[in-house]
Amino acid sequence: MMTRGDDVAEGKGYGKCILFNEHFVVYDIPSIVSAIGDYTLATVERTDSGGVRLIDDRPATPGYKEGKLEHQKDSLQRILDHMEIDPDENIKITLGGTLYCASGVGASAASCTAIARALNQFFDMGLDDDQINEVAYEGEKGYHGTPSGVDNAASTYGGLIWFVRGDEDTFEPVDMKKPVEIVMGNTGKVANTKAAVAGVKERKEKYPERYEEIFQDARQLAHDAREALEANDIQKVGDLMDVNHSLLQDIEVSDEDLDMLVETARSAGALGAKMTGGGLGGYMVALTPGEELQEKVAKAIEDKGFRVLRTKIGV
Ligand code: MEV
Repeated sequence: MMTRGDDVAEGKGYGKCILFNEHFVVYDIPSIVSAIGDYTLATVERTDSGGVRLIDDRPATPGYKEGKLEHQKDSLQRILDHMEIDPDENIKITLGGTLYCASGVGASAASCTAIARALNQFFDMGLDDDQINEVAYEGEKGYHGTPSGVDNAASTYGGLIWFVRGDEDTFEPVDMKKPVEIVMGNTGKVANTKAAVAGVKERKEKYPERYEEIFQDARQLAHDAREALEANDIQKVGDLMDVNHSLLQDIEVSDEDLDMLVETARSAGALGAKMTGGGLGGYMVALTPGEELQEKVAKAIEDKGFRVLRTKIGV
């Protein structure tokens, strides 16, 4: 049982944007993910009674927190178990921060990382980033069932990452010469990532040959995308995002709202656009180098009544 440590401690976890190969990453195909500047902050304080309590003050899409409540309880229990923290400890964990929580932006991973970091500091456990990432991965299981680990990696390590799931996961920094502006558009629809991942599995088993072809294309695309990012060939990156969106449509994880926002962004001049994250709602992302183009695309999405996040990759 852990009882030592500070009276109050804080920890941060960053949101993320998957630029290439969500879903495919679950099947050991390389993916490219970027942390974004918005973060969830967890604060842990000692209380007199009540065991472990979680107060969720994060800004969020209406319905998001309610929809994820059971997953969140499961996730916290897994985190406590993995960190060997007694559930009878009297502590209050409060979640806040700048990350507007919605599906597709890594909100669950950001909260798991933030909680892991805050508990680590509170109980003076001395965990390093790799261990924090492991705790966050355990927490992610409460939300996803069998997460690939890509979201918690972005949330823990930050930056732009080449991530391949495996017996030993591969994380490599992708070296962009210059950060690039992106716009993330929120459909406002709370999505169930677990169900989206299960749907892909089911269809992959039903149509193995068709899916194998799509998966091969996704594998090649990841390598091309990394090359384009490292060469600062932003137009090519945008083109490959468009192709990635088609592949994600092929495996049926996009939906009408996502497709509509992707089209809106492209028509407003984005170099490329795709859904991002689990899909079937949640966020899309558009590549919009320069503040002027970023603003134009953001405005086009906002004019349709949707909320956006203006941020950068490669920071
Ligand atoms: C969710 O952000 C990303 C998915 O690929 C699931 C995962 O990687 O665990 C859909």
